[in-house]
Amino acid sequence: MKIVDVGVGGGYNVVIGRGLIDKAGELVHGVLGDRRLAVITDDKVDALYSDRLIRSLESARYETVKFVFKNGEASKNARTFIDILEFLAKNHLCRNDAVIALGGGVAGDIAGFAASAYLRGIDFVQIPTTLLAAVDSSVGGKTGIDLEAGKNLAGAFYQPKLVICDPELLKTLDHGAFCDGCAEVIKYGVIKDEKIFNMLNDPENLDIESIIARCVEIKRDVVVFDEKEQGLRQILNFGHTFGHAVEKLSNYKVSHGSAVAIGMAMIMRACVLDGKCTSGYANKLEELIKKYDLPTRTDYPAEKLYEALLSDKKRKGDHITLVVPGKEGEACLYKAELDEVKRLLIAGL
Ligand code: GLY
Repeated sequence: MKIVDVGVGGGYNVVIGRGLIDKAGELVHGVLGDRRLAVITDDKVDALYSDRLIRSLESARYETVKFVFKNGEASKNARTFIDILEFLAKNHLCRNDAVIALGGGVAGDIAGFAASAYLRGIDFVQIPTTLLAAVDSSVGGKTGIDLEAGKNLAGAFYQPKLVICDPELLKTLDHGAFCDGCAEVIKYGVIKDEKIFNMLNDPENLDIESIIARCVEIKRDVVVFDEKEQGLRQILNFGHTFGHAVEKLSNYKVSHGSAVAIGMAMIMRACVLDGKCTSGYANKLEELIKKYDLPTRTDYPAEKLYEALLSDKKRKGDHITLVVPGKEGEACLYKAELDEVKRLLIAGL
C-alpha cells in the first residue's frame, strides 16, 4: 500500500493499494469517525462495485444511502446535481455526514460539487474507478458540472477528506478507457518526471500502483503551491489547450485522453520547429502515445481549431498560457498572444 499525503484543504491522504475497496469502511472510519454516508455513483460502476463498497462500509457500522445516475458525461449537468442535493436532503443528511464519490471523473466531479454545496459543504471521500480519475480528477479538489456553454463551467475547489484508490478496480476498464488515463500519465512524464516514460515502456507489464502514486505525488507538489490555479497549476494543462479544441469540435465524441494525446503531440511538434525541444524527444513522445493506441493528429482544420480555442475558459483576454516542453521531464508556462497561439497551432498540425 502506498500513501501520498496532500497538504491542501486541511490535508488528506491518497491511499493506493490492491483490494482497498474491501477495507474502505475502516479507512473511512479512521478519518471521519461515525457518520451517515451517501454513496454517489453511476449505473455502470454501481453494478460492479457498490455492493462490495457498501458491505465494507457496513462492516465498519456505517449507515449508507445510495444515489445512482446514468453513466456518461451527459449526466454531469445541473439536473443531476440538483437531483443529488434533493436526495441528500430527502435522506436527512446533516452537516457532519459525508458523501462517498465512487466512480470515474464524472462521479467524482459531480458528487464533490454536491458535497461542496449541500448545507454549504459536507465532507467527501473519493474512490476513483478509472485510471484518469486515479491520477488526475480525484486529487486536487476540482469539482464541478458542465453547462450548455461548455464543460466544467460551474464548480468549486473543494478538497476531499480521503482518496481510496484500488488499482484492482481498473481491471474492468475497457482498453480505450484505460489508454485514456495513460494520456494523463504521459502528461506527468513531460511536465515533471521523465522516469515515467520508462514506467510506461511495456504496456503488458505496468506497475500501476507505482505509476498512480508517482502521478499523485507530482500533482500534489503542484497543487500545494497553487490550489486555485492562479499560476503553477496551469502546468497540469499540458496538451489540454489544443486538446480541448479537438474535444469541443468533435462534440466530445473524441475522448478526453485522445484529445489530450493529440494536443500533446501538436505542441511538441510546434516546439521542435521553434527549437524549444528536440525532434528526438518529440518522436519518443509520439511513439509512446501510439503504444497506448492514442492518436497524435487531427483532421480538423487550423481555422476551426483556433475558433474553438478562443472559447476556452483558460483564455485571458488576448493571451493564453500554454505549457511548453523543454528537456525531457521539464516544461514551463508560456504566456502567448493569440497570434502566437495560432502560429503554434498551425505549426503543430
Ligand atoms: N486536471 C488538472 C487540474 O486538476 O488542475
